[in-house]
Amino acid sequence: MPPTQHQVTAKPRPDKILQLDGISPESVEAHWALYEGYVKKYNEIQERLAGADRGAANQIFSDYRGLREMLTFAIGGIKNHEVYFDNLGPGGGSPSDGLGGHIEASFGDVDTMLTELRAGGMAARGWAWLAWDWDWQRLDVYIGDAQNTFPVWNVTPIIALDVYEHSYIRDFSTARPKYIDAFVANLDWQAINGRFGMIEAFLQQMGG
Ligand SMILES: [Fe+2]
Repeated sequence: MPPTQHQVTAKPRPDKILQLDGISPESVEAHWALYEGYVKKYNEIQERLAGADRGAANQIFSDYRGLREMLTFAIGGIKNHEVYFDNLGPGGGSPSDGLGGHIEASFGDVDTMLTELRAGGMAARGWAWLAWDWDWQRLDVYIGDAQNTFPVWNVTPIIALDVYEHSYIRDFSTARPKYIDAFVANLDWQAINGRFGMIEAFLQQMGG
């Protein structure tokens, strides 16, 4: 019997992401529609998977292989964008004591972390993340060339920087560094602190 079909729903679009400095509402609205497209495709892939022929699964080509692979692309497209849009807002702010302490321990200071994230954003073909490694108890910058590359196990993204051209072509043409500047200037530290706060609470429970 095939596994139960999992379906997801797109989150409601937060008004705050239409109030950014330098990244236009038109660009964000078009970008949000892409996120909704990932949700739609995830649900479609799950439906197709339910009916896929498991006996015909084959590593060279099979419907089952294609669906399982593309499921990871859709999941990445959903989760990456949910972190990305949550990161952005007009509120500004700065890292909490808890997050700031871990940024200092892992990078030295916030500016050095942001330099690393910017470099990651220039080096990547899709995404750069600041993420928490649960095994090694540290933050680092990771890059990805697509929605489903190159996440590593047991690492949780805290900041997601989308560097696909659809993120910036409308407002910045091909000037990716200017877009990354705007992204950093529009970081919503309250939201980022909240995301890291969940990690801190878990670490405290574990006695770490
Ligand atoms: Fe995107």
